[in-house]
Amino acid sequence: MRRGGFFSFITDHRKRLLKMMPNGSICAEIGVWKGDFSQRILEINNPSELHLIDPWMFQPSFPSRWYGGVKAGSQSDMDDIFESVRERFAGSPEVSFHRKTSAEAHSEFPNDFFDWVYVDGSHDYDSVKSDLELYFPKVKPDGFLTGDDYFLPCQETGGPAPVKQAVQDFVKENQASIVKIIGGQFIIQKN
Ligand SMILES: C[S@@+](CC[C@H](N)C(=O)[O-])C[C@H]1O[C@@H](n2cnc3c(N)ncnc32)[C@H](O)[C@@H]1O
Repeated sequence: MRRGGFFSFITDHRKRLLKMMPNGSICAEIGVWKGDFSQRILEINNPSELHLIDPWMFQPSFPSRWYGGVKAGSQSDMDDIFESVRERFAGSPEVSFHRKTSAEAHSEFPNDFFDWVYVDGSHDYDSVKSDLELYFPKVKPDGFLTGDDYFLPCQETGGPAPVKQAVQDFVKENQASIVKIIGGQFIIQKN
């Protein structure tokens, strides 16, 4: 039996998220890795500016994460990944690189700058909450903070989902609301 495209459409949660974002937008991806999702942003959203924010830094203190030993085993591996992403988007003038942590990079952007930001960097509660808080003022009125791994258990302990907790606490404390959860993707809108 042939499994048709319909099934991949309903399970392609990231594609559905990207279709909900304004076309031709100014956007950022926090946590880029090899640029696979960045590529999809370019193809589906056709942004006027895509800011890629990632320190591409080996972090051995997080051995259960891709960049702490699961997929990259050294800083040299992370440097190679960064170079591959640079080459990948060398012909895309709308892409710019911010090789810094999200906390370091946020001050480079004016307030009310982005149409939307995708949060997919460090997945512990404090990091996600901090990314949401630091980038909220950077998003235009009615803009979006979105991200990945809403239901992912804590990578260190297997405990309750830190992204979900951070998102729920964030919307309680700010003029923002959750507009949709699509699979593991979350979409918050600035009120
Ligand atoms: C799950 S991967 C991102 C995957 C990518 N968004 C995709 O879908 O293809 C997490 C990335 O977050 C980056 N990262 C870790 N700490 C970060 C921080 N403080 N700020 C920004 N990025 C961070 C890592 O270097 C890694 O590349």
